[in-house]
Amino acid sequence: MLESRNSNSLACKKSLNRSLFFILIYNDDDRLTELALRIKSCSLCELSGTRLNTVPGEGDRKSAIMFIGEAPGQNEDREGRPFIGRAGNILDRLLKSVGLSRKDVYITNMLKCRPPENRDPSLPEIESCADYLDQQISFIDPQVIVTLGRFSFGKFFPDKSARDYRGSILDWHGRKILPMYHPAAALYNPSLISRLIGDFSKLSNFIADYPVQENEPEGKLRSEPTQLQLFE
Ligand code: URA
Repeated sequence: MLESRNSNSLACKKSLNRSLFFILIYNDDDRLTELALRIKSCSLCELSGTRLNTVPGEGDRKSAIMFIGEAPGQNEDREGRPFIGRAGNILDRLLKSVGLSRKDVYITNMLKCRPPENRDPSLPEIESCADYLDQQISFIDPQVIVTLGRFSFGKFFPDKSARDYRGSILDWHGRKILPMYHPAAALYNPSLISRLIGDFSKLSNFIADYPVQENEPEGKLRSEPTQLQLFE
């Protein structure tokens, strides 16, 4: 009897230790991985019926800078990665213009699935996906959020027009919001490139302000900003 009570309490202790262990090691990185799995099996809206892949986001999960675009396009849907098509090429070059690469920042979208024919996201789709984005913001905890285009700006300031605030720096619950044009806009209107370059240069102020991320070797300098040639 006593033996069985002892072995029960030992089993209890072991299970408690195991739970504590999991609580301790279950960090934001795990939560993002788990979130990506939930997104993968999401069927909250009808885009789940037409997507090839979900596109949760990628980059430095501890970055101080997060980019939020609109929705995956055809290339992104095929590969499951954000901004890898022509707009992504422009984004890469803009990042390079301030000495960053996509590995230094976190890139995601309002929607995690491609709207057919690349149409605008609908309100129900945005609402279905909103909780995923909120969780990403909470786990990554960026100090600066760059909104690319009017849809992602609308998430933070639904009553304001992105056009009126592009290039300015706004405060949102203790985070800085930098509204910018969507890089795809420059594909249709190349004159916007100089404005995008100007807006990205504002990011340099923040890069200087924020400490280099832990995962960068000490003393490593960011690559020198380069002259941007978007359509070389
Ligand atoms: N446009 C977006 O808004 N997001 C992508 O991932 C690609 C293109």
